[in-house]
Amino acid sequence: MKFAIAGATGMVGRTMLKILEQRNLPVDELFLFASARSAGQVLSFKGKEVEVEELDVSSFDRGIDIALFSAGAAASKKYAPIAAAKGCTVIDNSSCWRMYSDVPLVTPEVNAKDAFLSKGIIANPNCSTIQAVVALYPLHLKYGLKRIVYSTYQAASGAGASGHRDLENGLKGFAPAKFPHQLAGNAIPHIDVFLEDGYTKEEEKMINETRKIMHAPDLKITATCVRIPVFTGHSESINAEFYKGFDMDELVGVLKSAKGVVVQNDPASGLYPMPLSAAGTDDVYVGRIRRDASVESGVNLWVVADNVRKGAALNAVQIAELICGR
Ligand code: A2P
Repeated sequence: MKFAIAGATGMVGRTMLKILEQRNLPVDELFLFASARSAGQVLSFKGKEVEVEELDVSSFDRGIDIALFSAGAAASKKYAPIAAAKGCTVIDNSSCWRMYSDVPLVTPEVNAKDAFLSKGIIANPNCSTIQAVVALYPLHLKYGLKRIVYSTYQAASGAGASGHRDLENGLKGFAPAKFPHQLAGNAIPHIDVFLEDGYTKEEEKMINETRKIMHAPDLKITATCVRIPVFTGHSESINAEFYKGFDMDELVGVLKSAKGVVVQNDPASGLYPMPLSAAGTDDVYVGRIRRDASVESGVNLWVVADNVRKGAALNAVQIAELICGR
């Protein structure tokens, strides 16, 4: 099959390339696209050199079957429909198409079937949302979610290569170019733009995307999203309330047998999820699991994952695997 990556030179695009190499997809031909700035750059795939081309309206004239897009919302808005019209299945990592009712928003551990309803574009959810729903969905199936409170601690790489660079430069004393304030030594409660209701768009994405992926349009959710000076790995404090009561050992057992989840829950020996240990790996780690005694049936979870892998590139490749029947 013919594959393409749009945004191949970016943080997520390069990780998509790596993951495509590591997993067993039928890639016979691979095309790499980025902006004009990167045209002519050479990247390696399975020992072969592939030249990066400028993404343009004729890029998809070559019978490309599957394209992974991570080139920002503007490029997705323009080029994803062009690719789809030419018979290509687009798996889009930007926020551009996620809330369209005819575009499936897919986290394979939760709603793999939705991928097959695609009319050409499948959206990859926001990084903070993916790890949250992987951990929460098995609990939702068993106990019925009533309300979620998300508080996130998000890595610089969630803002792409320029976010990563901003933190590196900030540690050397340079002023920020990407974030609204210096991130080094700081915590910034401002990810994406502010909306009229005082929430940020990142917070709104977590709320709306969780509902869409879980097919739970009325689920009560609130969120506060914060950028912290960590390079890779988003952390989340999740407070979840259920309709049904639960036994704590059973709840931990549900998480232990959930697809894509690794429970790290032995605080006495210092075992709990952390971004440094999650970075470079594929799973969603859950720990600090404890009952919330302030409500009838509630639990607190600490959930960590590599935002560039499971939060973006890996999830997109997993969707491609679904499409290819792998
Ligand atoms: P380039 O490297 O040429 O700027 P990140 O999120 O890590 O910054 O990566 C963004 C990716 O999207 C990069 O590969 C970048 O290419 C690419 N990109 C950004 N804008 C466009 C565009 N208008 N057309 C094609 N690719 C784009």
